[in-house]
This record gives sequence, structure tokens and C-alpha cells, in this order.
Amino acid sequence: MNRENQSEKQSEKQSEKQSENSPEVLLIMGSHRANGNSAYLINQLRERLNHHQVYNEVIDINRLNIKHCLDCAYCKDNWGACVINDDMTNVYALLKKAKTVVFATPVYFNGVSSKLKVLVDRLQMLFICDFEHKRPFVDVVNRAQKQGYILSVGGARRYEHQFIGPEITLKLVFDNLRMPLIQHLTYDNTDRIAVQERPEVDGNLDEMVKRIMNGENWDE
Ligand SMILES: Cc1cc2nc3c(=O)[nH]c(=O)nc-3n(C[C@H](O)[C@H](O)[C@H](O)COP(=O)(O)O)c2cc1C
Repeated sequence: MNRENQSEKQSEKQSEKQSENSPEVLLIMGSHRANGNSAYLINQLRERLNHHQVYNEVIDINRLNIKHCLDCAYCKDNWGACVINDDMTNVYALLKKAKTVVFATPVYFNGVSSKLKVLVDRLQMLFICDFEHKRPFVDVVNRAQKQGYILSVGGARRYEHQFIGPEITLKLVFDNLRMPLIQHLTYDNTDRIAVQERPEVDGNLDEMVKRIMNGENWDE
């Protein structure tokens, strides 16, 4: 067995072990504030999923130790593996198996939050799986069952392109996960009116949970 095959097998085994308990729905809270608008949206979503007994897991970006991508090319020689061993190892395993992934992020300088961007950059390894190894990181068998969602909040009143940055960045992530982006909910003006005070939020999240449970993309 050559070095590449060996490392593929190792990384598959590692991922399988770690993902035995993977959630149906992975919720990624990307704000630097543990109790801000993004956290509120994720908590509300989680409550609803729990109510319907949909297995889920929340990742709070503030609780993770994730180092920056080194652009070291290790993943070019080792399918599905990153040279850095930190909390990203578990995130890779969770992403590999999740049916639905929801990102919540504030808009920071028209992009995702910087902590979330560090996580996103580490997903270059997924891109390399396709680009260099011609073998996707995720199993494509159940591709039709996958769904991606984005929740983003911006402090300023709505302006042109306010939410485009997070969308195009996270859309690339979903492409690598073989997940279609089903919906991007955006809330502007959060520096004046918190999402807790928005009458539309409850209905928006109920609708999202319905979509998640119905597997809107299942017959794609
Ligand atoms: C570093 C930084 C950059 C920001 N850049 C933008 C921006 O470009 N556009 C915008 O509408 N709001 C911007 N904001 C405001 C946040 O998007 C807003 O406060 C948001 O509600 C924070 O999300 P959270 O409540 O989930 O923490 C910025 C805030 C910070 C801290």
C-alpha cells in the first residue's frame, strides 16, 4: 500500500470513528459574541429541532481552538487529512456526515466573522480532495438528502451587497460539502433592533425547521 493509500485509510478510519455519533443537523454559531443575535438564532433553531426530536449539534466558534490554514500542501499528498491536529479534526468528521449544515454569522466588513473565516479556510482540504485527488471528501451517495442554510445578521441598515460576502464564501463551503444552499436568511439593522425583537423571526425559523424536516432537496 503506498503512502497516499495508507493515509487515506487512516483518515477514513479516524473520520468513521469520530462520526458514529454525527448529527443530522450541524449548527455552526459563528459570532464572536456568545449571547448576540447569531447565538439567539442558533439557540432558537436548536430548541425547535429538539422539540421535533431532530438530532443536532451546535458548534460555538468561540469554544474551538482552530489554527489558521498553513497552505502547507500536506492535504495535496494526503487525501482527506490536515497536518494540524486541533479542534478542526472533529469539525471535519461532523461535516462529513451531517445531512444539514446551518451557519450563523454576523457580517464583519461585508464578510463572515473572522473566527468563522479561520474555520472556513481550513476547509481548503475539502477542495483539495476534489481538485487534486479527484475524490470528494463527503460521501456523495446521499447527496440528494443534503441541505445548507445561512443565517446572517448585519448591524447597519440594509445596504447594497451587505450580505453577499457571507453568501459567496459559505456557498463555496456548501459546494465542497455537496450541499445545495437552500436558504439564506438575512437580518439587517441589528445594532438598533436585536433579532429577539423581530416579529418575523419565529415564523422564519419555524419555516426553516419545516424545510429541514421535510428534506426539501430529497428528490433532487
Ligand atoms: C469587526 C466588525 C465588523 C463589522 N462590519 C459590519 C459590516 O460590514 N456591515 C454591517 O452591517 N455590520 C457590521 N458589523 C456589525 C455586526 O454585524 C452586528 O453588530 C451584528 O449584530 C453582530 O452579530 P452578533 O450580534 O451575532 O454578534 C460589524 C461588527 C464588527 C464587530
